[in-house]
Amino acid sequence: MPPPKPEELKNLRESFRAKKQACFILGASGETGKELLAEILKQQIFSRVTLIGRRKLDLEEPLYSSVKQEVVDFEKLDESSAAFQGHDVGFCCLGTTRGKAGAAGFVRVDRDYIQHSAELAKAGGCRHFVLQSTKGADASSSFLYLRVKGEAESRVEAVGFDRCSIFRPAVLLCDRRESRPGEWVTRKVLGAVAYVCPTLYSVPTVTVARAMVNNVVMPGPDNRKVEILENADIHALGNVK
Ligand SMILES: NC(=O)c1ccc[n+]([C@@H]2O[C@H](COP(=O)([O-])OP(=O)(O)OC[C@H]3O[C@@H](n4cnc5c(N)ncnc54)[C@H](OP(=O)(O)O)[C@@H]3O)[C@@H](O)[C@H]2O)c1
Repeated sequence: MPPPKPEELKNLRESFRAKKQACFILGASGETGKELLAEILKQQIFSRVTLIGRRKLDLEEPLYSSVKQEVVDFEKLDESSAAFQGHDVGFCCLGTTRGKAGAAGFVRVDRDYIQHSAELAKAGGCRHFVLQSTKGADASSSFLYLRVKGEAESRVEAVGFDRCSIFRPAVLLCDRRESRPGEWVTRKVLGAVAYVCPTLYSVPTVTVARAMVNNVVMPGPDNRKVEILENADIHALGNVK
């Protein structure tokens, strides 16, 4: 589906806002998640926003006064099923790295936590699930990272939301708070490449966040419950303001 024109997007936002829907965000403390929260609050398209995470975030400013926080133990997620109830849209920007969590820990977070959260969200009434995956995600890949990302996509699809939007960004461009030396070098190189060909190997986290918010106010694609947005689609949609 082609991205909307700015005037069209304004009307879509207004119609969506009038529906007074609620959303939750998983991973709002992360680089994409924090941009997503900022964009959602800027656009004021939801009447209620819940952050579901393993720790409470320090959100002092009045801007965040309407944001509810639910602290959960992802290893005992069934005990927190109430946290997922009553949201129309769920955004998932959860993820770790093999370096940080080990191979098993990476699978646990990037696939199992995501699947379990999606199941509880669906049971709680969520109709549209927005998943941040990655470029090249492929359940049959021999690379652990791409395979696990592909498996997470398949498992979320299988939950059967009315609508499921899967975002597959390339390398995320941001000033990452956490030190990841390998990624830092890649980002510097790709930041330079992005001047020449912005949509090829990378995408700024602000663009991913805006594309997610623009996606939810747009109608879903005809006759398809699952839509996949590749890196170029994310750029095209996220650059409409
Ligand atoms: N890095 C890239 O270039 C790249 C490219 C394409 C796709 N992606 C994918 O995009 C997604 C978002 O990436 P990002 O860089 O924006 O994320 P990020 O900054 O690494 O943040 C990840 C989020 O997941 C949460 N999390 C991590 N481990 C957890 C655990 N064990 N239990 C509960 N929560 C946990 C973090 O919470 P805490 O703050 O509490 O740790 C944080 O909110 C990830 O799935 C990533 O794989 C990344």
